[in-house]
Amino acid sequence: LNFNVSRERRYILEVLFNGLRRLEYRGYDSAGISIDSCFACSDSLLPPALVFRKEGNIESLVKSVYHEVAATDLNLEESFSVHAGIAHTRWATHGEPAPRNSHPQTSDSKNEFLVVHNGVITNYEVLKETLVRHGFTFESDTDTEVIPKLAKFVYDNANEEGDKSVTFSQVVLEVMRHLEGAYALIFKSTHYPNELIACKRGSPLLLGVKELTEEPSRASFNDTKFLSSNGQPKELFLSSDASALVEHTKKVLVIEDGEVVHIQDGGASIFKFENAKEKGHEKLKRPASVKRALSVLEMEVEQINKGKYEHYMQKEIHEQPESLTTTMRGRLIRGGSCKAKSVLLGGLKDHLRTIRRSRRIVFIGCGTSYNAALAARPILEELSGIPVTMEIASDLVDRQGPIYREDTIVFVSQSGETADTLQALEYALENGALCVGITNTVGSAIARHTHCGVHINAGCEIGVASTKAYTSQIVVMAILALAIGDDTISSQARREAIIDGLFDLPNKVKEVLKLDEEMKDLAQLLIAEQSLLVFGRGYNYATALEGALKVKEVSLMHSEGILAGEMKHGPLALVDETLPIVVIATRDACFSKQQSVIQQLHARKGRLIVMCSKGDAASVTVGGSCRVVEVPQVEDCLQPVINIVPLQLLAYHLTVLRGYNVDQPRNLAKSVTTQ
Ligand code: G6P
Repeated sequence: LNFNVSRERRYILEVLFNGLRRLEYRGYDSAGISIDSCFACSDSLLPPALVFRKEGNIESLVKSVYHEVAATDLNLEESFSVHAGIAHTRWATHGEPAPRNSHPQTSDSKNEFLVVHNGVITNYEVLKETLVRHGFTFESDTDTEVIPKLAKFVYDNANEEGDKSVTFSQVVLEVMRHLEGAYALIFKSTHYPNELIACKRGSPLLLGVKELTEEPSRASFNDTKFLSSNGQPKELFLSSDASALVEHTKKVLVIEDGEVVHIQDGGASIFKFENAKEKGHEKLKRPASVKRALSVLEMEVEQINKGKYEHYMQKEIHEQPESLTTTMRGRLIRGGSCKAKSVLLGGLKDHLRTIRRSRRIVFIGCGTSYNAALAARPILEELSGIPVTMEIASDLVDRQGPIYREDTIVFVSQSGETADTLQALEYALENGALCVGITNTVGSAIARHTHCGVHINAGCEIGVASTKAYTSQIVVMAILALAIGDDTISSQARREAIIDGLFDLPNKVKEVLKLDEEMKDLAQLLIAEQSLLVFGRGYNYATALEGALKVKEVSLMHSEGILAGEMKHGPLALVDETLPIVVIATRDACFSKQQSVIQQLHARKGRLIVMCSKGDAASVTVGGSCRVVEVPQVEDCLQPVINIVPLQLLAYHLTVLRGYNVDQPRNLAKSVTTQ
């Protein structure tokens, strides 16, 4: 882009745009930004905040902003001693993607208060009615718009009552008191130049701190700019996701529910507002200030780049040998002459006795995370001897299903922030169960609010369709099963075989990835199909569900995963010569039953694609012709890790061949932080 924009303003815009690019995987139907105009105006005049909002992806916002900023000409050579900007990328919950529904949402035509919001305000209708009665007019269909308008209402009231000294944080604290639902918010106001306020309840929020002592990219900047209170040049970042921060700083503070961050003149202070949920307060309580040490992000910038790949999903599929190695690092113990092979899960070791005494283990998750738990369920039942049940998070909450103090509840979530899973966690905590988290995100809400847990360490996953997190989740849950069953002598040999299998798993995944071209050919063959069925059972029922989920979410082809044992109870009616059906029939205790399923499908002239273990092609083609995909055989409970890979590749190639955006599937978001 070669627009005539001052260096300083370009730097500010690029920092914000790059942040949005990093967050685009969480929402990509519209975006917006607000930056300051020149502050060199007289004190009596409010410096205007420039606001740009655009439907579509980040790049369309970038183009239009540069066009407008350059066209207006008024910003050339602008200089800032401190600058506070905000930006947002949206995944629509209330209101269609359109500029008026994009964030920042605003209080009025002068943009006195501007807000970006991640979450959902559940009582917005009541608030809106009240504000309309007080003369506010609304232009968007969003729940968010009530927030800046409420801020203006609070600010104007304070001023009318003679409180000219009302501070920005007081205004926001009062606004928070009225909000119900989930939110991470950043406020900007023309009344409080050089200040930002951020707060959260339920949705994630991070504060990143970067000291600018030796920063090459800022070499063109006057070192006296962006000074913090101690005189050190500093940049502060607020984001709902670490991936937007890591290229600037690894030093972060995870903001807790009820906390308010006040950024002023380049410095930040944090307050805790304990009573934000309580109603009936007439006056603001003075919040306590919060002091916490910064934590260090374990994320590298390379992890969030595509590298040599065209798409994140492709990269993440192909990096599974490495991500699985990282997941297992330090957790498998090879044993020795007098020491058995075993596993170690540091985050659980103090809780294993309690888990072993549980009345049942309940897995809770959504989407791919649920499927991963389903894949691990049989080995957990086998090695622990404890009944294991499965719950889709939203369904458990809808039913208010029984949870007991004697239960161990395992919450599986890649992001650690999924709203439904979090609500189920809250419910399980209220019922006194032991809550275990399995997540890929250090510092996430699930990691923080469970009693104990395991990080899957798969590295940052950007593709909306989860791939490497799925296989790492299965591996972590297999290790969990090994840890729980560690005190049972009768299963020692079985456990050792699984541990050997785990050591070799990355190599086997490398081998199965060689099917890439073969799956591309298959995708070419299926490109124009309307529908694809995937049959599996036992360990690979989950593979059928997950394979079908991958195909439908990215390639937009209808696909269903079917429990092969249920075939005769309905799905068989769909079988004819045209509908493609994938049957998973790798070697395990269910193999002969799957052979019989294949025979019955052959008898109905089904159009089959059979996934079998290497060397079994001849036995699965008896009775009819079919396409065969041969995969390496591993320990039965680890086979789902291998079997999902060709289906991930198939979904990927189908999507690319059908011309859809593989990393940003229609209407979907990476982490669903709203209900
Ligand atoms: C969304 C994503 C899925 C993911 C699910 C659960 O639907 O698109 O890929 O499996 O959320 O997310 P979680 O972060 O809890 O694993």
